[in-house]
Amino acid sequence: MKKLNGNKKINIAIFISGKGSNLNNLIKYSKKKNSKFRINLIISNNAKAKGLRYASKYKMNKRIINYSNIKKAEKYINLYLNKFNIKLICLAGFMKILSKNFINKFKGKIINIHPSLLPKYKGLNTHSRVIKNKERFSGCTVHFVSPKLDSGKIILQKKIRIQKNDSPDKLSRRILKQEHLLYPRALNKVLTSL
Ligand code: GRF
Repeated sequence: MKKLNGNKKINIAIFISGKGSNLNNLIKYSKKKNSKFRINLIISNNAKAKGLRYASKYKMNKRIINYSNIKKAEKYINLYLNKFNIKLICLAGFMKILSKNFINKFKGKIINIHPSLLPKYKGLNTHSRVIKNKERFSGCTVHFVSPKLDSGKIILQKKIRIQKNDSPDKLSRRILKQEHLLYPRALNKVLTSL
């Protein structure tokens, strides 16, 4: 993927595995007059991902990737990224780990959203771990993807205070609202610097 210039909208791909609320939010954002990007491809490793309904609703290009063999899976992903002229990949609840080769090939061109204040609470079940550890704050982070899980350079982060009666579910809902504000802002920041 080469360096980009000019005022044309930039083609991006969103990778999902589940409910796709971030995807839906980014689709809405992309339709705004001043948005810098067009979502030209949705990739899911899961044919039953609820988020895929947004691809149908908005008649978008989508591809389901069979992940029983990661080499083959990434071969197809590469093919589709070329076909749809994708310049940037946004992971949004994508539950598969991309190979080191793949990540290095697209260095600086893959971003992810994670529901914690990275570098704290990498990995899964962040909200229950945060509550169990009696943290005072949590939040969400958009970061570049590097071969080490949830460890790439941070683009933007939003911090929120944990409330006394927070359950993992409640906290997750409050953080998700913040994710929907943060991801488009972070994406804009990255696209401006491409
Ligand atoms: C979000 O909490 C995101 O931070 C994490 O996975 C969840 C995806 O939610 N990586 P959704 O599928 O976008 O609703």
